[in-house]
Amino acid sequence: MKANTSLKDAAFEVMEQSYAPYSGFRVGAALCTSTGEVITGTNVENASFPMSVCAEHVAVSRAVSMGFRNFTEIAIATEADRPTPPCGGCRQVLNEFAPEIVICTFTRDGRNSRWTLRELLPEVFVFEGAGGKTR
Ligand code: THU
Repeated sequence: MKANTSLKDAAFEVMEQSYAPYSGFRVGAALCTSTGEVITGTNVENASFPMSVCAEHVAVSRAVSMGFRNFTEIAIATEADRPTPPCGGCRQVLNEFAPEIVICTFTRDGRNSRWTLRELLPEVFVFEGAGGKTR
């Protein structure tokens, strides 16, 4: 299947804004909404490491804040040698709004991999209440 070029370009463009002084691993993410908007995000690290946020999480948070909740595809750009899939946490974040989303990840030299979220996260956690139990 043909890679979505404009989404890929948007992911590389926002990767330039990455704040990754600790890992040096820059990531850009571009989400495509079901109505064709492109919403981007990049990773933002912090001296308190756990406070860092992934590019995909930022993109989803920005999109939801702008009123978008339906996504068809996400492009991920990195400077790694191999196309890198999103981390486990980001897979869960994507699942919240777009269980059917297609994930396409790119290297600088044009290599890419494409998966459905369902392929990368076959057994997703779904919160179905506390089963009536209280503490
Ligand atoms: N990172 C992302 O932005 N997305 C991922 O899916 C994996 C990891 C970021 C977090 C951190 O800033 C850096 O990459 C190294 O883990």
